[in-house]
Amino acid sequence: MSDLKASVVETNNGFHVEGYEKIEYDFTFLDNVFNVENTQLSKCYERWGRCLAIMDLNIFNLYGDEMQKYFDHHGLELRIHKTKIGEKAKSMDTLLSIVDTMTDFGIIRKEPVLVVGGGLVTDVAGFACAAYRRTTNYIRIPTTVIGLIDASVSIKVAVNYGNYKNRLGAYHAPMHTFLDFGFLRTLPEAQVRNGFAELIKISSCGHLPTFDLLDKFCERLISTHFGRLGDDSECREAADKINRAGIFEMLKLETPNLHEIGLDRVIAYGHTWSPLHELTPEVPLRHGHAISIDMAYSATLANGRGLMTDDEHHRLLNLFSRAGLSMDHEDFNEDILDKATKAILKTRDGKLRAAVPNPLGSCTFLNDVSTEEMAKALRRHKEIVKKYPREGLGLEAFVDASDTGYTMNNTPVEKVMNGHKTTSNGIESARGDELREVMANGYPNGHKN
Ligand SMILES: NC(=O)c1ccc[n+]([C@@H]2O[C@H](COP(=O)([O-])OP(=O)(O)OC[C@H]3O[C@@H](n4cnc5c(N)ncnc54)[C@H](O)[C@@H]3O)[C@@H](O)[C@H]2O)c1
Ligand SMILES: [Zn+2]
Repeated sequence: MSDLKASVVETNNGFHVEGYEKIEYDFTFLDNVFNVENTQLSKCYERWGRCLAIMDLNIFNLYGDEMQKYFDHHGLELRIHKTKIGEKAKSMDTLLSIVDTMTDFGIIRKEPVLVVGGGLVTDVAGFACAAYRRTTNYIRIPTTVIGLIDASVSIKVAVNYGNYKNRLGAYHAPMHTFLDFGFLRTLPEAQVRNGFAELIKISSCGHLPTFDLLDKFCERLISTHFGRLGDDSECREAADKINRAGIFEMLKLETPNLHEIGLDRVIAYGHTWSPLHELTPEVPLRHGHAISIDMAYSATLANGRGLMTDDEHHRLLNLFSRAGLSMDHEDFNEDILDKATKAILKTRDGKLRAAVPNPLGSCTFLNDVSTEEMAKALRRHKEIVKKYPREGLGLEAFVDASDTGYTMNNTPVEKVMNGHKTTSNGIESARGDELREVMANGYPNGHKN
């Protein structure tokens, strides 16, 4: 929600307008948001007597019934718009179909749309709300770790367009975000790992106590989906501390910079060389793996400069490894480093601004890394990670149908994946030509967050 305060003065030859926009939005931690006993959400819709919800098909299949019961119980009409799943669906077409539903529903000024799902749905539906009648309110319920601890922290919303990721978008804060980690019990483990990587990022550069907890509970956090599967109450308690601190840290770092005018960003650790590399392998890497490779390499660079001790360096690499995250990839080579450096210099106003832990738990930005130093660190990094399990490669590191989820010529993408192979490392890769085409179309050469 925002509120503009502005003044107008006359100048010699015209007028000068100066305005300040107040931005305010709240987060509520609430497990089981759709439990009928929990009235926080229904209260938001009481005055309207109804709710228009946008979600992806997976979320609808898993939670549609529970939502319907919740809204029925509270005497509120519920209309659900289902979007397709996958990065390819983060498009203007999806946005326009949401817009049509909003018109059909007759959304009233100030009436909030409810957006439920991962970062993908909250981005595209959030952008539809930003654009609809110039601005429309929305309430966000993220359902992935990335959604909960990363996408919902920011007010950025977007769609992919013209072969570029997030090319069209806006800054549009929701009225409210409900943080329900209960959704994680149904989230595929590969997606849990993706979010774990972002938590390593924020904690290793910003909050040592959170890093310590990730380190202590790593395997349990992943296998219990942050304490939501089974009854490991100790792990759940640790997960809640980690998530709360991680989100708070992100908010403290990013809210003074909501429009990203400052370019030295702690939360860009792991996001220097990865935007290009993520899309380079034949089947693109999952975001969490791409940033982990970048973070692990950056740590080796920092260690080479004495910014991280050997112990800290090993501790960090070991955490990536235990979490099943990637620390290297055969395509992560000097050529990619060079191209990715050139690309990021453009985005970062001519400076590298590579965030690195120094020491673990806080951060320094490197601007003066020569090509030789980068190449030398890369050679050393590749040697170091070979000594780790799986030689530093990750588990379920590449995007699959759970990320893409579309059909080709009416054939589910899973069936198209007949060329699916499992390598000696147990790393899955899909090599079907048709699938490659899907991936290529779905992951054009843009930038990921
Ligand atoms: N706005 C931002 O600042 C920001 C930050 C980070 C990421 N993003 C965007 O977020 C997108 C990625 O989002 P994501 O990682 O959340 O993935 P996603 O939204 O694509 O979801 C991943 C998969 O998990 C499924 N899923 C979601 N929640 C589930 C649940 N609880 N149980 C079972 N399945 C579930 C989805 O249907 C999908 O198949 C990207 O497009 C990225 O650009 C935006
Ligand atoms: Zn990221």
